[in-house]
Amino acid sequence: MDVGFLNYIPLFSELSDDDLREIVKLAVRQVYKKDNMILIEEEIGSTMFIILDGRVKISRISDDGREVILSILSEGDFFGEMSILDGQNRSANVVTLDDSKIMVIRREDFLQMLHDYPQIAINLLKELAQRLRRSDAQIKSLSLQNATGKVASTLLRIADDSGKIHLGQVEIPRLPPQQDLANMAGTSRETISRVLKALAKQGYLKKEGSRLIIMDYESFRSEFS
Ligand code: CMP
Repeated sequence: MDVGFLNYIPLFSELSDDDLREIVKLAVRQVYKKDNMILIEEEIGSTMFIILDGRVKISRISDDGREVILSILSEGDFFGEMSILDGQNRSANVVTLDDSKIMVIRREDFLQMLHDYPQIAINLLKELAQRLRRSDAQIKSLSLQNATGKVASTLLRIADDSGKIHLGQVEIPRLPPQQDLANMAGTSRETISRVLKALAKQGYLKKEGSRLIIMDYESFRSEFS
């Protein structure tokens, strides 16, 4: 079987094609439509997921009913591992943002994989460390008082996740809608709109439809992170 499509998944990096052929036998490929709720916070979990195509939104609902977006994951990322690892209920909701292709692995198979292929466990820990760093950055940015700082650091997080760097500029090909940006930044949609316009006017950003360019990534980062 051709396992080439698994080569770009960081969780499986440094595994041989023979190993990947064994792994793929344990997974089921599923297609989900856009806006499909894959996981619901507080439900019991027995599967983990790897995104082959598309994006998902990881979110929780605050006590006053507002959506807080923790992360947006895309091709090559995994989710659903937390319940598998600690046996607790799902920590967040997961909803598709696009029509998506997703690989599903059962709990006992994933735990066996970690045992049989320690490289997967190392790759997993590396990604979890990076997620903790991103969450730390999000906590810091939510505690900022000024709206520009909240919006700019949210853009930096998205750039780090899905941006493409070229000659000092970073292109974010599909910026999430303004309400989603607001729910990531802990602010309102109106504030997002106002700050994006101001940052564009000051020459930091260029926006064409849902495509956003950070004109000078290094100086933007040193100004706002
Ligand atoms: P689990 O708790 O099983 O189900 C919800 C999933 O959302 C969780 O596993 C993680 O895979 C993912 N998740 C939860 N919090 C975050 C976060 N802060 N960043 C990225 N992914 C997260």
